[in-house]
Amino acid sequence: MYVQNANVPERKPVTVPGLHAMKAQGRRIVMLTAYDASFAWQLEAAGVDVALVGDSLGMVVQGHRSTLPVTLEHMVYHTAAVARGLSATLLVADLPFMADRDVAHVLEAAARLVGEAGAAMVKLEGAAPHVIAAIEALRERAVPVCAHLGLTPQSVHKFGGFRIQGREQAAADHILAEALAVQAAGADLLVIEGVPTALGERISATVQIPVIGIGAGPHCDGQVLVIHDVLGVTPGKRPKFSKDFLAGRDSVAAAIAAYAEDVRSGAFPAPEHCFN
Ligand code: KIV
Repeated sequence: MYVQNANVPERKPVTVPGLHAMKAQGRRIVMLTAYDASFAWQLEAAGVDVALVGDSLGMVVQGHRSTLPVTLEHMVYHTAAVARGLSATLLVADLPFMADRDVAHVLEAAARLVGEAGAAMVKLEGAAPHVIAAIEALRERAVPVCAHLGLTPQSVHKFGGFRIQGREQAAADHILAEALAVQAAGADLLVIEGVPTALGERISATVQIPVIGIGAGPHCDGQVLVIHDVLGVTPGKRPKFSKDFLAGRDSVAAAIAAYAEDVRSGAFPAPEHCFN
């Protein structure tokens, strides 16, 4: 029988100001995706700082080729399930494709993900003018925001696939400008995905908000991975920037603990997980 948070050591809840303090103190932030209560409990037990209910669930849970078919109903369902498995870990939920089409839809989605499902923060992709307006509107309502730049999966068709971004100087400068824009609009956290290590380092050193990398090199303020990649159960080819932490270990708990330890020590990501 499932007993919520039985035997999980008590820890202080992770908060948004707490994440800012971690950046200031040079303590790396551990973030990992979860899509249900049982895995949320595993994250909680391993002392993961931030749980992300990513719209990657469209690929790893639902079996789609992209994140685009994920709906707000799906996100609310999975976010509520994850929230039931957490106590101290901060919960971030993705706004699905087109939920950012106007400010009214963004606020409606945030009301459901935060008010109904139990997220503490919502994540939006990109820095187009409508996204900046959305971040400002959420800031006015005191809803914490995680921005997401670089290889933003909801732009897969525009990019022509899941391709590394910011390789040319002009593109790198543009992503840095976007990072400053989302920070100015009120974002509290920034995920930067699929960019060269030098750009991940430049962005992390330039903005004040914590930067969480995924395929963005070791110099970010924290790291995030999809839990299916960490456990080596992703169907098909695992992304270069990920690592199977279950290989050579005998339990899910040990794999998640090793991931957390390697992020905190800086051992992950290693050069073979990075883009130059
Ligand atoms: O949807 C997701 O899981 C994400 C992470 C990969 C950052 O956005």
